[in-house]
Amino acid sequence: MGTLVIDNVVAGYGSGPNILKGLSLTVESCKTYCIIGPNGAGKSTLIKVIAGLLKPREGQIIFKGEVISGLRADQVLQRGLSYVPSDRSLFPEMTVKENLRMGGFVLRDSRLVEQRIDEIFEMFPILKEKSSQMARTLSGGQQQLCAIARALILKPEMIMLDEPSLGLSPKVVQQIFSTITELRKNGMTILLVEQNARKGLQIADQGVVLDLGKNSFESPASEVLSDPRIQELYLGKRRNPLATEEPK
Ligand SMILES: Nc1ncnc2c1ncn2[C@@H]1O[C@H](COP(=O)(O)OP(=O)(O)O)[C@@H](O)[C@H]1O
Ligand SMILES: [Mg+2]
Repeated sequence: MGTLVIDNVVAGYGSGPNILKGLSLTVESCKTYCIIGPNGAGKSTLIKVIAGLLKPREGQIIFKGEVISGLRADQVLQRGLSYVPSDRSLFPEMTVKENLRMGGFVLRDSRLVEQRIDEIFEMFPILKEKSSQMARTLSGGQQQLCAIARALILKPEMIMLDEPSLGLSPKVVQQIFSTITELRKNGMTILLVEQNARKGLQIADQGVVLDLGKNSFESPASEVLSDPRIQELYLGKRRNPLATEEPK
């Protein structure tokens, strides 16, 4: 039995069509899952349903033995499941430190939050350096770090990251992936959605391909990386031998 069990979840927005069409996935504790799939497949929707931002129409989500589908987002957070949205959702006119405080809001203990912020500053010295600057003045990579740090304030058991490398330069992407690798080493359960499928799979234990609202393929990440069908569809490799010729 996994830490997080997604059981036949059907979900959509308002009175719109089903986006998730009976999706099931079991997430084992302390493992990193990388979810890949085409645009519009429902990757972000899946994360939103787990995070309590969207109620499933059918099916259920179980975290550590408790049904969490139906709980509010703050209640999901309180149970140790944090979420970093793809737009980062920082408060641009608040300082880095104030943003981190917002991450600790559900703790309702300001001394504990300050203590956690100090721990975060040890982990991410750049955020300490920038602590009194407004979030909007940070670079893209620093903003992503700040968003991850804000989710870590709660010391979650599991973290979900939606496209953390989006819009970042290759060097900064590398730093973000190193940070995720650190979290993985420290035993965190991670659900990572990545459009940079190759990089995402390289730091994951398990790879999941989501298509048309369903989990269409799941394997150890190394196998997903070497599967010719997946390579062709998602990893930018063509089977046409002419296309694999080395450039002159
Ligand atoms: N807030 C929303 N309201 C209505 N439809 C939405 C909303 N967010 C996403 N969708 C639709 O849900 C589908 C899946 O979107 P999404 O989960 O964001 O896909 P992915 O993250 O895999 O690219 C898309 O067709 C998208 O238009
Ligand atoms: Mg998305």
